[in-house]
This record gives sequence, C-alpha cells and structure tokens, in this order.
Amino acid sequence: MSIIVREALQTDCQGIMDLIMGLAVYEKMEDKVKMKLETLQEDGFGNEKYFKCFVADRQENGASKLIGYALYYFTYSTWEGKCIYMEDFYVSPEYRGKGVGSRLMGSVCKIAVEKKCARVQFSVLGGNKPSIDFYKRRGAIDMTEVEDWHLFRLTGSALEKLAANSNTV
Ligand SMILES: CC(C)(COP(=O)(O)OP(=O)(O)OC[C@H]1O[C@@H](n2cnc3c(N)ncnc32)[C@H](O)[C@@H]1OP(=O)(O)O)[C@@H](O)C(=O)NCCC(=O)NCCS
Repeated sequence: MSIIVREALQTDCQGIMDLIMGLAVYEKMEDKVKMKLETLQEDGFGNEKYFKCFVADRQENGASKLIGYALYYFTYSTWEGKCIYMEDFYVSPEYRGKGVGSRLMGSVCKIAVEKKCARVQFSVLGGNKPSIDFYKRRGAIDMTEVEDWHLFRLTGSALEKLAANSNTV
C-alpha cells in the first residue's frame, strides 16, 4: 500500500465529493452541502477554473482510492499581493496521524512559495481544537485572536438586494 499526493484530475471529482461530505460530517454541517458532481467538474476543470486541488491517493493492488484532499484558489491582497486561500483540508479518519495532512498542506504551501504568494489563509471553526492546534504547531496565526478580524458573508436576498443596486455600466 502506498499513498501518493498529486494534483487532482477531473476524474477525481466523485472521490473529492465523498471527501467533501466527510469533512462536512466532521463539522456537523452535512445538511449545508449543496455541491453537485457536475458543478465541481465544471468549476475545477472547465474553461474557467475556480479552484485547484491536491489529493492523497491510496494505491493498493492496482486499485486507487482518494483518502484526503486540500482544495485552494488564489486571492489577492492589496497590501501584499498574491495569496492562496485553502478552502478545504481533510484526511479520512483511518489515515490520520501518518503525515498525509502535512504532505497535502505542504503541497499547497509549495505552490504559494513558487508563485511568490505572501500568505496561505484558511478559516477554522472555533470548536475544532485538534485542527487549530495542528495549524498553530506549524506556525499559523489566528487572525481573530491577534487582530480581531471577522469573517463576513453576503448571501441570498441580502446579496441580491445589493446586486440590484449596482449602477455599473
Ligand atoms: C487536520 C487533518 C487534515 C490533518 O491530517 P493528518 O493526516 O492527520 O495530518 P498529519 O498526520 O500530518 O499530522 C497530524 C498530527 O496529529 C497527530 N496525530 C497522531 N495521531 C493522530 C490521529 N489518529 N488523528 C489525527 N492526528 C493524529 C500527529 O502526530 C500529528 O502531530 P503534529 O502536528 O505534531 O505533526 C486531519 O486531522 C483531519 O482531516 N481532521 C478533520 C478535518 C479538519 O478538521 N480539517 C481542517 C478543517 S479547517
């Protein structure tokens, strides 16, 4: 048995969908997942690519199974330039503690360094202490703790109301 970390292919999307659900279950928010396989395929591998992804692929007796992923995209800081946002990071429970997560996150950080990004950012639920500790042990800074940043979201009717007020020509 070997576990390789590699860039995701379009054909990995069903495996990634299963892992997305695994992470949502872990966060006790599985009812919030609205993603469809076709949407993930189109958004990651269609003409306009909205995300990139590394997968951990367990290979055994010629069979392949995805057991972890780190999904990310590029953002931009007007203070510091190019950045990466790591949206999802997950390893299936039975494969944790073997360095797979570190390899996945390391792959995202390597891209950040290669592309001269100033930051790799991500959000963590306040109650997810094991992951908060995992990130802090690796030198990540909790921006809410240090600078009191809060994560905001516009969605649904509030979003549509603002969009309707646009005067863009
Ligand atoms: C966070 C996560 C991706 C890390 O993946 P991983 O493959 O366990 O990562 P690693 O093996 O590289 O490191 C795990 C660390 O926990 C320790 N550990 C040991 N046994 C462990 C176990 N059974 N489960 C988890 N961690 C374990 C390891 O020693 C290691 O310690 P270190 O930080 O000092 O290196 C994984 O724990 C996970 O999927 N958690 C649930 C989802 C989640 O919280 N995702 C992040 C959302 S923001």
